[in-house]
Amino acid sequence: MTSSPLLEMNALGIDLPLDGTVRTVVHRADVSIHEGTAVALVGESGSGKSLTARSVLRLLPQGARIHGDLLFAGESVPAMKPERLRAFRASDVAMVFQDPRAHINPARSVGDFLVEGLTTARGVPAAEAAKKVTGILREVGIPDADRRMRQRPHELSGGLLQRVMIAAALAAEPRLLLADEPTTALDVTTQEEVMAIIGEAREARGLAMLFITHDLELAAAVCDRVVVMYAGSTVEEVPAGRLRSGAAHPYTRALLASRPPVGDPHAPLRSIKGWPLSGFEVPEGCAFSERCPRVQDPCHSDTPQPRMAGDSRTACHFPHTHSPEEVGSHA
Ligand SMILES: Nc1ncnc2c1ncn2[C@@H]1O[C@H](COP(=O)(O)OP(=O)(O)OP(=O)(O)O)[C@@H](O)[C@H]1O
Ligand SMILES: [Mg+2]
Repeated sequence: MTSSPLLEMNALGIDLPLDGTVRTVVHRADVSIHEGTAVALVGESGSGKSLTARSVLRLLPQGARIHGDLLFAGESVPAMKPERLRAFRASDVAMVFQDPRAHINPARSVGDFLVEGLTTARGVPAAEAAKKVTGILREVGIPDADRRMRQRPHELSGGLLQRVMIAAALAAEPRLLLADEPTTALDVTTQEEVMAIIGEAREARGLAMLFITHDLELAAAVCDRVVVMYAGSTVEEVPAGRLRSGAAHPYTRALLASRPPVGDPHAPLRSIKGWPLSGFEVPEGCAFSERCPRVQDPCHSDTPQPRMAGDSRTACHFPHTHSPEEVGSHA
């Protein structure tokens, strides 16, 4: 791909104040998303997926520091002044979270929440805003929009409320959607419906997406590229269509192996030995070395740097190799 990415993180790091000191929780995140495409960010709990996504909107805990490059359409996000940051949050990038109830005022009506998002942040006149959100609610599968707008959040099921949050995100007409495990709290049928709604909305608008999930297969199904994160670093990036054949990092392979094979949901699950680490716990060398079946001496002392091979990128001293036809010949 020749055009420059819509979102570009190069060696992005995040430091947080923890227990009276400053600790690095994200060491190195390399994530690029081109206009209209979808990138999945996968990895175990605590690996830094949410912080990485939140850094795009600078929605980080008090005292957090970002280092490295974080560019949106070529503009540095960390360098944005408050006024520009407000406009950026109101119109360029929107976020949908795992738990919609934690991100909506329970005392206000759904309609007030949606309309205020447009009137306050974007200066849209109230009547126009109401008409617009009604249309978007219908688009996300809420036909009785007028009734729903009068209700309070607790009167809506989790699935309906997540649709409201997606509607709020879409109303801002963003170019990039950050979806942080948007379906994890929902039952399976509702999960599928919500993913379908996001897919349709993306297609209709040419909307780019960063999709966070624990589920590698879902990641590959709904995204163009899959980025795997471990203990605060992105360790591999592969095109979604070649996730199984092209994954070279032992961690990605282990994640894939820990899932039952497609078509055989009753096969035993294999877990990865040991525990996942958080970014601030990583040892010297490769963070995965303690759990890695391919570990050798250099892994304990040298941090592996990301290297391109074909259209994939892997940070590993001893990656799995593929036959040439598997690796492909993309620029
Ligand atoms: N507000 C905070 N203050 C201190 N540490 C934090 C804060 N938020 C996150 N962390 C720590 O940073 C690390 C990465 O957290 P993050 O929430 O990004 O992980 P994650 O990959 O999204 O995990 P999960 O899959 O459980 O959502 C974790 O060790 C977490 O404990
Ligand atoms: Mg998270």
